[in-house]
Amino acid sequence: MTPEINARRGYYTELATQRLAPLWESLADLVPDAPRSRCRPELWRYAQLRPFIERAGRLISAAEAERRVLVLENPGYPGGHRVTNTLYAGFQLLLPGEAAAPHRHSQSAMRFVIEGEGAYTAVDGVRHYMHRGDLILTPAWCWHDHANPSDAPMIWLDALDIPIVADLAAGFRENDDEMPRPVEHDAPLRSTAVECAYPYQQARAALESMASRGEIDSCHGVIRPYVNPVNGGSVLPTMSASLQYFRTGIRTQTYRSTASTTFVVVEGAGSTQVGGQRFEWAENDVFVVPSWFPSWHEVERDAVLFSYSDRALQEKLGLWREQRGG
Ligand SMILES: [Fe+2]
Repeated sequence: MTPEINARRGYYTELATQRLAPLWESLADLVPDAPRSRCRPELWRYAQLRPFIERAGRLISAAEAERRVLVLENPGYPGGHRVTNTLYAGFQLLLPGEAAAPHRHSQSAMRFVIEGEGAYTAVDGVRHYMHRGDLILTPAWCWHDHANPSDAPMIWLDALDIPIVADLAAGFRENDDEMPRPVEHDAPLRSTAVECAYPYQQARAALESMASRGEIDSCHGVIRPYVNPVNGGSVLPTMSASLQYFRTGIRTQTYRSTASTTFVVVEGAGSTQVGGQRFEWAENDVFVVPSWFPSWHEVERDAVLFSYSDRALQEKLGLWREQRGG
């Protein structure tokens, strides 16, 4: 070791005692030439995790758990409750006759229905009955609770901006006993209901008509973002969501964007290449494409993918960027 390097090391040690750090040692990490994060590409096979959801149903009641959810943890953030660097995903189980008590919070949520039919999520007093593939929004500060009056287990994917709100240290929650909440009634009674629920049948039909008109994107197949009908923007301030359809045999062009994206396989089978990894997927599997990782899909059997990301927030901040092909 040269005397100069030795001197620097001593200096750095002393700096740390003053709660100071030399920027020049970490400039490339702090201001990288391309996006970097700890978020890793990952795949969760539903067939593999379904028994664990079932066991949670035997080990803990919905009442005891408050929310009986298995959180999908990105391997880049062990213990971090993050499916990507910015967003959260969890499978929630509600058994027949169970209910999850009302609360509200500053985090925004989406529910994407995986299994079952006849349970509901009430958002500000409006009950939205769930069917497979439906998307139901719970914007920040809306009261919400879930109940399953049906005779089958109900499973859905919760998608929230929990990590963003946590990083901003802006999380608040109120429980039912702290505030009066709206009287509950079924969705058709209130016009706001259309802003919170996107039935799968309608979304699927819209994709089919786009496909028949040949509106096919080389990177995304037939893709339709879910939009807020009031302002035409993203479904929630922090999160964007899309549904996309691919015909059998399609191989998409390589694509990347700064939005770390979580995909849920609604129908079909295929595979996705993410960076150097290839994920073979089937119905209800979940996989992650991190920011700026090139990816492409190859479809084995007519497929529908639901996806959500932090694109909405990045666009507001002027950060979102994409690259097609390459
Ligand atoms: Fe909640």
